[in-house]
Amino acid sequence: MRTLFVSVFLLISPAVMADAASDYAAMCASCHGASGAGDGIALPVKPANFQDAAFWKSRTDAQVKSAIKGGGAAVGKSPMMPALGAAWSDAQLDAMVKYLKAMKK
Ligand code: HEC
Repeated sequence: MRTLFVSVFLLISPAVMADAASDYAAMCASCHGASGAGDGIALPVKPANFQDAAFWKSRTDAQVKSAIKGGGAAVGKSPMMPALGAAWSDAQLDAMVKYLKAMKK
């Protein structure tokens, strides 16, 4: 049973991570930039820079998840950050936070 659980987990987790990478490229890179520097399209409000260590210092993972799930408005930020993760599972949100964090310089 334990072996089954572990092997199922190993099968699923790289798939979720791969999803985060392709979701990021498809849904986030246009605004946040391909490598997360916040240098996508020019907007009146600058998209968050995920490479900036100060960004990660000033937020918890839970706040970052809320922003992805509910958009900027859910965390007191600009609604120019859309609620793109509204239909995502918790595992998908966690995988995206992990993916974004890996961009930190
Ligand atoms: C239409 C442009 C746009 C797209 C697409 C977009 N974002 Fe954003 N995002 C923004 C803007 C603008 C901000 C800055 C909001 C502010 O500072 O008020 C932001 C901020 C954020 C923040 C930081 C919230 C905070 O605590 O300050 C996170 C996390 C985030 N975006 C994640 C994502 C993810 C993940 C995706 C893809 C699923 C994504 N964004 C797609 C525009 C976008």
